[in-house]
Amino acid sequence: MKRLLALTAAAFISLPLTPAPAIATATDPAALSHGTPGAPGAGDPYFPDQGNGGYDAGHYDLSLDYEPSSGRLTGVARISARATQELSRFNLDLVSTLSVRSVTVDGRTASYTQGGSELVVTPARALGAGRGFTVVIRYDGRPVHVVDPDGSVDGWIKTSDGVYNANEPQGAMTWFPGNHHMTDKATHRFTVTVPSTRVAVANGDLVAKVPKGGRTTYVWDSREPMASYLATVSIGKFELADSRIGGHRVTTAVDPKLAGDAAGFPDRHPPVLDYFSSIFGPYPFSSTGGIVDHAPEVGYALETQTRPIYPRVPSESLLAHELAHQWFGNSVTPTLWRDIWLNEGFATYAEWLWADKLGTRTVQAAFDQAYATAAEDEFWQTPTADPGGPENLFHDPVYDRGAMTLHVLRREVGDDAFFAILRAWAGEHKYGNADTAAFIALSERVSGRQLDALFDAWLFKPGKPSL
Ligand code: TRP
Ligand code: ZN
Repeated sequence: MKRLLALTAAAFISLPLTPAPAIATATDPAALSHGTPGAPGAGDPYFPDQGNGGYDAGHYDLSLDYEPSSGRLTGVARISARATQELSRFNLDLVSTLSVRSVTVDGRTASYTQGGSELVVTPARALGAGRGFTVVIRYDGRPVHVVDPDGSVDGWIKTSDGVYNANEPQGAMTWFPGNHHMTDKATHRFTVTVPSTRVAVANGDLVAKVPKGGRTTYVWDSREPMASYLATVSIGKFELADSRIGGHRVTTAVDPKLAGDAAGFPDRHPPVLDYFSSIFGPYPFSSTGGIVDHAPEVGYALETQTRPIYPRVPSESLLAHELAHQWFGNSVTPTLWRDIWLNEGFATYAEWLWADKLGTRTVQAAFDQAYATAAEDEFWQTPTADPGGPENLFHDPVYDRGAMTLHVLRREVGDDAFFAILRAWAGEHKYGNADTAAFIALSERVSGRQLDALFDAWLFKPGKPSL
């Protein structure tokens, strides 16, 4: 959901799934005019087709049935949304390799077409601006991952025993229809049925596990707003553990192949979360944990909301990185992909903080090591806040130059102001979206300093900044 609607979120998500159809009368404006089509994209230059205009999704209720042996998925997506313009038709992001079987809007049959990564829905009658509605999409097929501009894979990534489901930056469209740009956050409920030899793990709180006739249904409730790229439904032969540890609900799923190395994995979370809470402010979600899969072919971890996914047992720095993203990236989310350093630079800086806290390496030593990169190195040619295109989203400058930027800011304004800035960033934009300009403005406001020169050199100009 978009930030302007955040205050009404509680009322919004309690809408019945199938509201009574509005009765059109002669005075109903929707009956008198036809509205205009919603935009097919959210306007992000890195992924122009991602997201859609004309409506704001508030809640996704996804019922998925998956058969790992055939790779077949059968899904029903019930999406509660609100029209932000008078809407004659609207798009959802869904790859066309999945077949849509039916669409209804507020219980009435709607017409639809599929092409590329767009599902275009035309309701029987235009939706008035500001009006809440529910769209139900029945679909099925064999999901496959996508290959990203940088050559990595994301989406529904099959493993030997199930699915490694990581969706940054564009994988969500490979398995469910939605408004998949990160500026449209929503609450989610996942009801996933798999053979009982498998476990389905998603975001949020496990609310039910129901075995029936050789299959088991897992229900996960994700009650805080979430961007689509942070959703996961990962499936495999997992050992599931769900317990309260030091005031946290820690839910973990571990591939039995890694059970030995992962012993104690749940207990590793509270110390990191408590330390980060002490400096960033309260942990923003109702549960935590992680998914440890054996997926050497994937190679990267992802900060999936509440419950990161790892392709191996994470090191202490990787664990700290993904948990720091829960504040920076997941609760506070960028407005455009170009601002990805607000995720990765912050999570990298949090790794440095955690290592310092553990006594492994000081933050200053981490900075010095990164800054020692020779001025001629390619590394310095990419400005932190303008990586140049989607192929560079996860390149070193976004991470390391991003973290260095924060350290330079800290040295400039002092520890008190610096940590006040981090807390204000997490607090003021909780569950929302914010961009680099907002971070600069906040830093100047909290510190009372003019910081243009510093941010210009570190965020926007190519070349190695001097100290
Ligand atoms: N956001 C992830 C992290 O840093 C990294 C990531 C997501 C990634 N998608 C990727 C890295 C694709 C390489 C390729 O925690
Ligand atoms: Zn990261």
